[in-house]
Amino acid sequence: MDSSETTIEQSSEGGSSTWIATSNRGFGKLAANELQRLFGRAKTQSLSPGDVFRFEVDVSREEAIRRIREQEPIFVRHVQPAMRVIPIGEDADELLAAIRSVVAEADAPLRGCKVAVQARKAEAPQTPKAPIQPIDVKRVADEALTNAHGAIPVVRDMEYVVSVYLAREAAYIGWSTPEENLSSWSGGAIHFRKEDADISRAKYKLMEAEDVFGIDFDRYHSALDVGAAPGGWSSFLLERGLRVTAVDPADMHPSLMREHGFTYLRKNAADVKFEPDSFDLLVSDMSWDPIRMAELVKRLLPSVSRDGLVLTTVKLMHGKAFATLREVTAVMEPEAKLVKAKQLFHNREELTCLWRKR
Ligand SMILES: C[S@@+](CC[C@H](N)C(=O)[O-])C[C@H]1O[C@@H](n2cnc3c(N)ncnc32)[C@H](O)[C@@H]1O
Repeated sequence: MDSSETTIEQSSEGGSSTWIATSNRGFGKLAANELQRLFGRAKTQSLSPGDVFRFEVDVSREEAIRRIREQEPIFVRHVQPAMRVIPIGEDADELLAAIRSVVAEADAPLRGCKVAVQARKAEAPQTPKAPIQPIDVKRVADEALTNAHGAIPVVRDMEYVVSVYLAREAAYIGWSTPEENLSSWSGGAIHFRKEDADISRAKYKLMEAEDVFGIDFDRYHSALDVGAAPGGWSSFLLERGLRVTAVDPADMHPSLMREHGFTYLRKNAADVKFEPDSFDLLVSDMSWDPIRMAELVKRLLPSVSRDGLVLTTVKLMHGKAFATLREVTAVMEPEAKLVKAKQLFHNREELTCLWRKR
């Protein structure tokens, strides 16, 4: 089959570009609002209810990437360029042939490069008409990458990503670097291998923060973990070689009590006090009203040395996400500067914020 029968040429040209954005479930509207603000005008269309949408902007691909990376949206976990759009009919073989030929003709310098194919499809009820699976897409795209480009198909540590999103009516295909996509994981859905010794799922939030914010925990020595129970974050920091002081009125996991360098204060954060500069890292995952959390953390900031790192989750309790972040920032400043706020894949109704102690 000649793919030109079904391929709509370049959907991103000169002064415009088309993208697929992914947020956490239920946060697609906030993510779309952020993109509207960033670009002044962006045409958006939901592709999978609540979290994946297409957006079209009046600026080139390069300019869109520049703006997105410069002012990274909080709720947009992942973006992928939609450079070619293939309408989806009922015929699976025809669709796969068209995808193979689009990838074979991709105008990207892929020769000898490690390239990952990341294929996803919309969830029901918006699944594509033709019954193909992401694994079928990966097979034909890998073939095209090897045969037409002399590229090396990989899953991790890629230099380039070929992204394919199968929506109900169309397949969206694009190629980009993982940095341009804001994440090297398909759809920004970062997965960690579960270890038997993991104390809580909360640990994955901190592991993801390390990856997304590029934190080098090895540079730090002494951490205060506020709202620490049952101890996933504390155990992670101990594994990284830090001394940890954990504060929580609730029980910590018994395995932590044997750990060298671990101190546990079974107390409310409002009732503890430390010497100035006792810590170079403060982390807080308190399940509490965000403003109260910020006030409690701020009270403890004198115990953190200048330029120390502060990482907090911020619960989004009443749905007013941007207003909540503004209020929390107003409380924390001027003692700590907000470096970055992001809704991570492992965040539920919350954000993760990185601050630098002034
Ligand atoms: C989501 S859990 C923390 C999970 C932890 N990061 C982990 O990895 O296991 C929230 C914790 O915050 C604690 N918390 C809530 N308010 C607190 C306060 N005022 N002072 C200290 N801890 C508090 C709760 O007792 C609860 O154990």
